[in-house]
Amino acid sequence: MADIKEPSSQVPSLDRDCTTLSRHVLQQLQSFGPDAQDLSAIMNRIALAAKLISRRLSRAGLLEGVLGFTGEVNVQGESVKKMDVYANEVFISVFKQSGLVCRLASEEMDKPYYIPENCPIGRYTLLYDPIDGSSNLDINLNLGSIFAIRQQEGNDEDGEALDLLQNGRKQIAAGYVLYGPSTMLVYSIGKGVHSFTLDPSLGEFILSSENITTPTHGSIYSVNEGNFWQWDESIRDYIRYVHRHEGYTARYGGALVGDFHRILFQGGVFLYPGTLKKPEGKLRLLYETAPLAFLMEQAGGRASTGTQDILDVVPDKIHARSPLIIGSTEDVAMVESFIHERAREEALKAQPSAVR
Ligand code: AHG
Ligand code: MN
Ligand code: MN
Repeated sequence: MADIKEPSSQVPSLDRDCTTLSRHVLQQLQSFGPDAQDLSAIMNRIALAAKLISRRLSRAGLLEGVLGFTGEVNVQGESVKKMDVYANEVFISVFKQSGLVCRLASEEMDKPYYIPENCPIGRYTLLYDPIDGSSNLDINLNLGSIFAIRQQEGNDEDGEALDLLQNGRKQIAAGYVLYGPSTMLVYSIGKGVHSFTLDPSLGEFILSSENITTPTHGSIYSVNEGNFWQWDESIRDYIRYVHRHEGYTARYGGALVGDFHRILFQGGVFLYPGTLKKPEGKLRLLYETAPLAFLMEQAGGRASTGTQDILDVVPDKIHARSPLIIGSTEDVAMVESFIHERAREEALKAQPSAVR
């Protein structure tokens, strides 16, 4: 009988094709215990949600009822796209009858959604932005989904989910799906950042990059300069600096996930600062800035409000917003230096003239 060598030695790609997301989570945890199995199963359900959303997006232009607005306005005060609603439902559906996730807190829902059959034992909460960058939907540009997983603390009898109003260091996992030329899923459970690419022929997310690290500096700055008139002077100082110095290039795609993904791999900085209309910024802490801050810190970068690490911010409500400066350590520090300099000048001005 021919001796059967290690299969992967005969078909090297076999091992790679078998490095699916659920297997990778178990490898990361070095455990097959119940908690590891739960987290692996949760990630697998998120992967299913990503596949369902990716499939619908890939045929959006051909199907009725996919593109365009619903005519509703969500809790954010934003017009809701049909795809926002569909994707929101997908994340709920994939966790039904799973016994895993009791509560889902979504950008698209005013209050958290409870899955009753899971709640007696499910101790996890999924926080998510089902479709990020929905302004890109009708023009076939990249979109994302952003997610974070937290342990439920207490029984939440009143359904107010107050235990979610804690800082981002309570996240046990975070990640995003990027619906681009390929569909990628990037995640961390606190042991580095790893990316998976959907192989449509397999219907599986296969490992594509492990232990992604963000360069300490990059040439990219990513910000909506149309808000220049609404920014603090300190942010204008930073923008004037990059306008006047060689070595910077602007990239802004209108979808946080895509702009973040570029900086995660190539370095640089993404900013969504506070504005006159939205002093706390536009982005939401629990399911946009905190999950990405978790990833960026795991990749060796930084995420700040300008005066505080994003992961230390404690929200006062589920849909709290936060300013965001995220990316390479040196570039985030540079933006913060302009903020600190302005604050120092303001403090000096506020002092009685005799003391100056
Ligand atoms: P969402 O589609 O989930 O509401 O998120 C949109 C966000 C984010 O993806 C992006 O960075 C930002 O809105 C773009 O805002 P502006 O159009 O104001 O630049
Ligand atoms: Mn979003
Ligand atoms: Mn959204």
